[in-house]
Amino acid sequence: MDGYNHESQAAGEDWRARLVCMALDVRKNAYTPYSDFKVGAALLCADGSVVLGCNIENAAYGPSNCAERTAVFGAVAQGKRKFKAIAIVGGREDALEDCPPCGVCRQVLAEFCSGSFEIILGRGDKTYTVHTLSELLPYSFGPGNLL
Ligand code: THU
Repeated sequence: MDGYNHESQAAGEDWRARLVCMALDVRKNAYTPYSDFKVGAALLCADGSVVLGCNIENAAYGPSNCAERTAVFGAVAQGKRKFKAIAIVGGREDALEDCPPCGVCRQVLAEFCSGSFEIILGRGDKTYTVHTLSELLPYSFGPGNLL
């Protein structure tokens, strides 16, 4: 789909590349009159479905929502709480570099996802990198701490 490849792989299509393409596609819906920084996220659920999200900004700034949380909250509202991976594509127009999730989104992901949950970052040059939640949010506070 659209030629995305892992940075260390030869050309070829895989489920991660397809997920990145979905994130790139929904990025077009981002509402960003204040930052002009558009982000798309595609969340792969355990049942194989994909829930999409984009960032949605607000004139009061504070109520703005990241693409990742839009996707997670939408999925939970659909009754989905188990997730395998999320692809994220973000940036200003074509100069798309890695867009790692913000700290708040990492914490929201940690509420529902294991440490091996994959975070796939797509770039404008059609490559992507793969990270895990435990790598991006080590020694985190989660539901288990409240037991
Ligand atoms: N943003 C996201 O949607 N996801 C991220 O991972 C980082 C930042 C949004 C928030 C805001 O609308 C814009 O990008 C600039 O920070």
